[in-house]
Amino acid sequence: MNFERWGNLFWLLAFVYFGLFVVGQADALFGGLMPEAHHDVETPVKPFAALHTDDEEAIIALGEKVFNNAGCQACHQIGLVGNNIGPSLSNVAQRFQGEQLLKKLNEPQTLVANTVMPSYANLSHDQQEALVAYLGTFNGEREGLETGVGEVPEDILANAAPINPDTALIERGLGVFNNNGCSACHAIAGVDGAVGVIGPDLTREGLRGRTDEWQKEHLISSLTVYTNGDPSGAKLMPNYDRLSDGDLDALVAYLQSLR
Ligand code: HEC
Ligand code: HEC
Repeated sequence: MNFERWGNLFWLLAFVYFGLFVVGQADALFGGLMPEAHHDVETPVKPFAALHTDDEEAIIALGEKVFNNAGCQACHQIGLVGNNIGPSLSNVAQRFQGEQLLKKLNEPQTLVANTVMPSYANLSHDQQEALVAYLGTFNGEREGLETGVGEVPEDILANAAPINPDTALIERGLGVFNNNGCSACHAIAGVDGAVGVIGPDLTREGLRGRTDEWQKEHLISSLTVYTNGDPSGAKLMPNYDRLSDGDLDALVAYLQSLR
């Protein structure tokens, strides 16, 4: 047996063990002193430097970057730009702010059990604060494509479904809209009294690329379309399952004609 070799191996192992011990202690000692150091680990979105500023504009600008990097527009539209899996966020600050918004980001399933919205708990504290500040600017003062301001880009118009040629049906749909309290929550430019700001602006609802089936299902049970079929959960928009099938079809034709 070669004792010299075993001796060397012993010292090698002792050295490695001691090294690991030192690294572990350093992390335990200094980890807590570097608050943002841990959060960005394994974050699928690009990490951002910690915020060392109280400058509101800088924070909002960072929030916009977080929003873009986090892929929110894979499911949400802002001013008609983005996918249409979730509701439009154009004026989301009218219904979600502060703590409630943080809850939506960190544990969306506590509000809507089977929502397809993923949790963003992996974002750092700074990233979340910036995102909340940015979304706070999505209030009623935002004038954009969705509110009827500005030219709609050609590709959005080209992809829009044709308007139902049955003008009497569309006219009936406007009546259903006016008689069911929709305008308390939704604005439509040019429709008397439709100035609600709780829900998304519907002035160009027909350009969101939603199907007639989606619209009808959303009216009957709005959460069903966002959860792959489970309508349980907290929400603001009431179910309109009491409307007749004819009224629902008229309302859908009307909503899809808005552009
Ligand atoms: C995979 C799709 C998906 C992604 C990605 C996604 N969401 Fe959602 N989100 C939804 C769906 C569906 C709803 C509606 C059901 C619900 O409230 O959970 C929703 C609801 C919301 C609501 C509540 C809106 C309302 O009017 O009720 C907010 C706020 C929100 N999302 C913000 C975000 C932000 C910010 C991001 C990016 C950090 C994001 N979402 C990413 C699908 C998504
Ligand atoms: C108490 C407020 C409230 C009332 C009343 C209400 N809604 Fe909504 N509506 C909302 C909210 C909040 C959302 C966004 C979350 C969602 O889609 O459920 C919404 C979403 C919508 C959308 C989808 C917008 C998008 O992103 O494409 C349509 C369409 C819509 N409502 C139509 C109607 C119609 C038509 C009526 C009347 C029959 C109505 N709403 C009544 C609050 C309301």
